[in-house]
Amino acid sequence: MVSSLHSLLLVFFLFILFCAPYISAQPTADADTDFSCSSDSPDSCETYLSFRARSPDYVNVGSISDLFGVSRLSIAKANNLSSEDELLKPNQLLLVPIECNCNGSRYFSNVTYQIKKDDSFYFVSITAFENLTNFLLVQDMNPTLVPNKLEIGDEVVFPLLCRCPNKALRDRGIKYLITYVWQPADDISSVSSMFKASPADVLVENNYRNFTAALCLPVLIPVSELPELVQADPFPSGPRSARQRHILSAIVGTIVAFFICMLFSLVVYIHRLCRKKMMLERNLSNSEYVDIIKMKKTAIDEKFELKAIPEKLLPGVSGYLDKPIIYDEKVIMEATKNLSDRYRIGGSVYRALINGKVFAVKKFHDVTEELKILQRVNHANLVKLIGISTDNAGNCFLVYEYAENYSLDKWLFPESLSSSCSVAPLTWTQRLNIALDVANGLHYMHEHSRPSIVHGDLQTSNILLNSKFKAKICNFSTARPATCSLLLEADVFAFGILLFELLSGRKGMEANEKGEIVWKEIRGVLETGKDIEEGLALWIDKSLESFYPIGGALILANLAAVCTAEKSSARPSMTEIVFNLSFLTQSTSEMDERSWAEPEESLRHVSPVVGR
Ligand SMILES: *[C@@H]1O[C@H](CO)[C@@H](O)[C@H](O)[C@H]1NC(C)=O
Ligand SMILES: *[C@@H]1O[C@H](CO)[C@@H](O)[C@H](O)[C@H]1NC(C)=O
Ligand SMILES: *[C@@H]1O[C@H](CO)[C@@H](O)[C@H](O)[C@H]1NC(C)=O
Ligand SMILES: *[C@@H]1O[C@H](CO)[C@@H](O)[C@H](O)[C@H]1NC(C)=O
Ligand SMILES: *[C@@H]1O[C@H](CO)[C@@H](O)[C@H](O)[C@H]1NC(C)=O
Repeated sequence: MVSSLHSLLLVFFLFILFCAPYISAQPTADADTDFSCSSDSPDSCETYLSFRARSPDYVNVGSISDLFGVSRLSIAKANNLSSEDELLKPNQLLLVPIECNCNGSRYFSNVTYQIKKDDSFYFVSITAFENLTNFLLVQDMNPTLVPNKLEIGDEVVFPLLCRCPNKALRDRGIKYLITYVWQPADDISSVSSMFKASPADVLVENNYRNFTAALCLPVLIPVSELPELVQADPFPSGPRSARQRHILSAIVGTIVAFFICMLFSLVVYIHRLCRKKMMLERNLSNSEYVDIIKMKKTAIDEKFELKAIPEKLLPGVSGYLDKPIIYDEKVIMEATKNLSDRYRIGGSVYRALINGKVFAVKKFHDVTEELKILQRVNHANLVKLIGISTDNAGNCFLVYEYAENYSLDKWLFPESLSSSCSVAPLTWTQRLNIALDVANGLHYMHEHSRPSIVHGDLQTSNILLNSKFKAKICNFSTARPATCSLLLEADVFAFGILLFELLSGRKGMEANEKGEIVWKEIRGVLETGKDIEEGLALWIDKSLESFYPIGGALILANLAAVCTAEKSSARPSMTEIVFNLSFLTQSTSEMDERSWAEPEESLRHVSPVVGR
């Protein structure tokens, strides 16, 4: 009897589920999820909000517990995490335990938040609190604060939406109403199964609202017990293994680069173009060849055990998944053969082999500034800090990811190499991508770090190229928080000089035959009137020959000119620069594809569009 009633109900709700779009009466246009409280509902209850771990600020239990003002342990318990330090997956959905209170007409869970730079009610509601509230409620709840006059450090109460189940619901076995923010890819069945809730209950408790229209809005998921959230796992065994894969591919890259180097050397040898050794060969002598063979072997062994456990370093830097590893001094000395000259890449930077992986180690006397900055940043276009070590003499060693292709100046100004005759010139696409990479790195420092950071010493020797010629900004010894916009504009100027150098293949800050500073020539070229393109073609790096689009070169030259404008306020921001460069690289690669594509290939490109 009971079971037949159940199946009847099921049929009914399946009907609703699949036919809902066709029944105009059911989901009324203004139906909404109800967060109100009435006389028959409890004044308060313990319940849960669902929250996604998101980079950069909320990637671990600690930062999420600080945001909501609840204990780490309670979050770990609610999510069946083995410890408070357990690594979270990117976008992992968590249940956050909160207390839900009725103010007489609505339920809220108040969270106090301290305003940071550039925050607004709206911004914090949609970012930090992931739309668990909306800014109008925040305004209501904070009548003494003027929304557009918030100051850093102001304490704002964010009323997060929640609801307590009333007696009728509890009698039906519903223990919690979990607040969940509807996501673009969601549908009722996927969300219900994620929370192990019944789709029918979900529909009822949200007043049969139109879930398509609930996008990015909080809804309530009624559950009879706390679910262990089942979620898609982007990295099957956690971010650690993703990192391992990353390191592994870097090693494979190194090996491939090594064989390419060998081939390259052989060609050079056969043609007897060089009397002396090649730059790359100089750095890969016989004994290192043995190292690399060994390295390949250990890399395979290492896949099964991860020894380096990140340790806590300085207070307040626990925010990142990849904390620097503390290395014993002995490890560094062994890895660089006691800082042997043979391992020196340049200055006080050494090539080091640690646990079979190649790194760059830099020796410092005073490391605090660089370390402070590097621990705060994390971006693919900024060189990554892997570890740190100190010795008894007060020296500090920072271990960085290794850049197989050294620094940009070695490629742009090959005459600065001690014993080389030639390195392959960078292609136009490589130059463009390097410019975009550097711009992205700077953009991150200027716009996405809090407070903004200025690099202060951007130049070709501080730009490293990895095996795929991806550019990474390094050397943060002069970097510091941007206390005024003038400092940011100085970085933009330096970036302009860099563009100039990428275009011309000459050092921008040196004087030419006429005694004027080289970078200023770009003005002359751009101001020649009708023959700009001809003038530019004469002026551009000869090693590019004619393999570049003149239109693209003109855009880059103009960008270099505005970045180096005398009046610093006339220079563009890194946001504008990134936008322009992205546009330029995209249109260039499309153009390349078009000109290289086989006729059949391009036909295939077009046909789906034609077909419709
Ligand atoms: C919590 O996770 C462990 C494994 O990590 C599992 O064995 C256990 O059943 C889980 N507990 C609950 C209540 O799901
Ligand atoms: C916290 O929420 C309650 C509703 O339960 C509300 O009445 C109260 O004003 C809020 N507290 C503050 C400080 O705004
Ligand atoms: C409860 O909060 C709502 C929304 O801020 C507000 O409109 C309402 O007046 C409050 N009720 C009471 C009794 O304070
Ligand atoms: C919150 O909603 C806005 C649109 O209203 C959306 O752009 C934003 O991505 C949402 N935030 C989150 C964290 O889902
Ligand atoms: C639900 O909302 C979406 C977007 O707001 C709308 O396009 C759609 O027609 C609505 N569906 C129903 C059944 O009202």
